[in-house]
Amino acid sequence: MPAAYPIQEHTFDMVVVGAGGAGLRATFGLAQKGLKTACITKVFPTRSHTVAAQGGVAAALANMGEDDWRYHFFDTVKGSDWLGDQDAIEYMCREAIPAIVELEHYGVPFSRTEDGRIYQRPFGGMTTRFGEGPPAQRTCAAADRTGHAILHTLYQQSLAHDAQFFIEYFALDLIMDADGVCRGVLALDMASGTLHLFRAHGTVLATGGYGRAYFSATSAHTCTGDGGGMVLRAGLGMQDMEFVQFHPTGIYGAGCLITEGVRGEGGILRNSNGERFMERYAPSVKDLAPRDMVSRAMTMEIREGRGVGEHHDHILLDLTHLGPEVIHEKLPGIAESARIFAGVDVEKQPIPVIPTVHYNMGGIPTNFHGEVVQLRGDDPDAVVPGLYAIGEAACVSVHGANRLGSNSLLDLVVFGRAVANRCAETIRSDAPHAPLPADACDKALSRLDALRNADGGTPTSVIRDRMQRTMQADAAVFRTGETLADGVRKMRDIHASFADVRVSDRSLVWNSDLIETFELANLLDQALVTIVSAENRTESRGAHAREDFPERDDANWMKHTLCWIDDAGNTRIDYRPVHAYTLTNDVAPVPPKKRVY
Ligand code: FUM
Repeated sequence: MPAAYPIQEHTFDMVVVGAGGAGLRATFGLAQKGLKTACITKVFPTRSHTVAAQGGVAAALANMGEDDWRYHFFDTVKGSDWLGDQDAIEYMCREAIPAIVELEHYGVPFSRTEDGRIYQRPFGGMTTRFGEGPPAQRTCAAADRTGHAILHTLYQQSLAHDAQFFIEYFALDLIMDADGVCRGVLALDMASGTLHLFRAHGTVLATGGYGRAYFSATSAHTCTGDGGGMVLRAGLGMQDMEFVQFHPTGIYGAGCLITEGVRGEGGILRNSNGERFMERYAPSVKDLAPRDMVSRAMTMEIREGRGVGEHHDHILLDLTHLGPEVIHEKLPGIAESARIFAGVDVEKQPIPVIPTVHYNMGGIPTNFHGEVVQLRGDDPDAVVPGLYAIGEAACVSVHGANRLGSNSLLDLVVFGRAVANRCAETIRSDAPHAPLPADACDKALSRLDALRNADGGTPTSVIRDRMQRTMQADAAVFRTGETLADGVRKMRDIHASFADVRVSDRSLVWNSDLIETFELANLLDQALVTIVSAENRTESRGAHAREDFPERDDANWMKHTLCWIDDAGNTRIDYRPVHAYTLTNDVAPVPPKKRVY
């Protein structure tokens, strides 16, 4: 019997957890369709991590030269190293165009061309004519603060619609019934310390990635994968977690992002000889190769002794030749970041950079409607009723083994919109809510009570630090069977050490110690699932580069990993097939071939 905690009950048609780009787009889309919608978020909406997105959002608008959504489709399939689901990729690339026009009409202040169109810059892996033509200028930008511009506009739109926000509420656990239907979520109002049960016909997880499982990440400290943690605790599997994207240009030491847009505008990576080394690794696209390739090339340069600095352990990003006009107009944000975090004047000096954890390709498996899917018997695409996931929290899978830059902001708006459309079709506003069993919240309450009173010997911060250092060292840009096995062993111990966690503050009001402990629990499960999945996949594909298995192995591994974890930390792996087919005949599936640029 759990300790008695009073719970305030709320009843909505839909509840969205998270207020980044995906969560906000879903929230006002649902409200617009007449569904009574709540959005609960642990940070104020405009502080969500989408605000940090810099370079832009991809859509084949053809404002700056030849383009077609089919080219975008081809690039995304190839970029995913053929692990992306081609039906979902077709949906995203086709819908990109109306989604961006819609954003423009909502008021996003995109940068403009001379004739007033949305400005578009080149980004890695984006080409024309099915990879045979010149690089595409496809990434729609608001200088280098595109995420900021989009997030603020989406929040303004949300305020114009009749959605209800519950701000600084931390989602504790999903409420699942005995039939495996999601019936809502239990949350803690961090300011008042009160508990709230949100009952809903549909629960949309838009909680972002879990970049903070690593020591150095471009992700905000809030990126703790809270949705993924809840999904794993609900006994559901996560997909393709071994695929973690390292962004080539995190500021050395600080980890802050320096946008790929810098290379899109002509910036160049140089080694200690001053050499533009990407010419050797990707002769046609050079510095604008996809991120997995650039990160590996940088790591090779450092390993072979051509890194820069006292420890020869990083690379230089040179934009001194771009001139003050381009920097002021197109890249003002990174000029400021470089000054503050690297002490560099980008007009005169290169920026010290290093591959830094940036994005989780893996996540909660969904179809292109945003419905969560699981393997059930012979059905690999069985929908979990009442549960949806979008944005970085989800694995649709449109990014497969490697995401192309600027396809993430796109994923947020396209699938935020898709889930609203789907729910408008399938959920009847004000349909009655079936009664919940009396013990529906018991497990979540017992867990809350146990962590609130945890009096072990190890502070949360110590366990977190061990996890982050282990993931950084053993689930890195390059992996081997040996480092992964060692990492799995260490991560199992670290995961088990959570039983000894100590929370010092027993209150429920603004208890950041307790909230960080909930976040750590979410991170630990996902870190362990990540490294276990990485050890299991004995091939190299996209961001998963195994030195002991350097080739892609389509015969055995063109399949999605699913991984579950139980309360004791035992993991289990199974697979779902990749959708190698398209949605319509408007574009042909791209058959696998060697991925060269
Ligand atoms: O480099 C960037 O501006 C990041 C963009 C992205 O991750 O899509």
